[in-house]
Amino acid sequence: MIRLGVNIDHVATVRQARRIREPDPAWAVVQAELGGADQITLHLREDRRHIQDQDLLNVLSLASVPVNLEMAVTPEMVAIACGLERKPRSVTLVPERREEVTTEGGLDVAGCFEPSRAAVEVLRAAGMSVSLFVDPDPAQVEASVRSGASAIELHTGAFCEAWGTPQAGRELERLREAAVLGGRLGLRVHAGHGLNVRNVAAVARLPHVEELNIGHALIGRAIFLGLQAAVAEMKALIAQAEGNR
Ligand code: PXP
Repeated sequence: MIRLGVNIDHVATVRQARRIREPDPAWAVVQAELGGADQITLHLREDRRHIQDQDLLNVLSLASVPVNLEMAVTPEMVAIACGLERKPRSVTLVPERREEVTTEGGLDVAGCFEPSRAAVEVLRAAGMSVSLFVDPDPAQVEASVRSGASAIELHTGAFCEAWGTPQAGRELERLREAAVLGGRLGLRVHAGHGLNVRNVAAVARLPHVEELNIGHALIGRAIFLGLQAAVAEMKALIAQAEGNR
């Protein structure tokens, strides 16, 4: 069964708009789990624009499903992850630029190999499994294997942006080839970014994909449906697509 990781960052985005106490991303943990989330994903950004350090501690102590921490490859973030008493099950290493609205593009593991490799080694030694958020590019997939990571998360942003245009088919093919290569090389294959109720089925049908991380579309839909219902709806769409692959 493909796992659904619910990214709760945008609950904190709303809170930080006022810098007060609510809505608390910890509330989203309970709702997401009630809706069937298999994992809680959160991104502690260097600029702390949404999730704060205390949120990470709260989520780690509250969640009964595994927690996946997204973070940049920096000494500060590696130290934070390794210093946690209760650790996330997994860490996903992502690129970060302060001026970006959201994570744009994957980590350049091939071009900037040593920092990624070193971070993977330290995080794994501390007991966390490590996934690398990469573009669906064979060079990045191959470099990810060499880094010692156990998983890749394929960046689905280009496919999602191309949705509804002829380019979408080509982007889906790139994702398929990267998923097949990752699976053949022994990596676990995850995917995420920009997924929503319309485009998720195409990605859930790709071979080897065993985890999807979804944030913006779920939180957006939760405003109108409630988070529990939005997560349950997404889980059902994924299960249906998986049944057809
Ligand atoms: N996966 C990774 C590695 C991400 O950085 C993000 C965005 O924080 C997501 C998944 C979720 O993307 P979205 O919010 O577009 O669903």
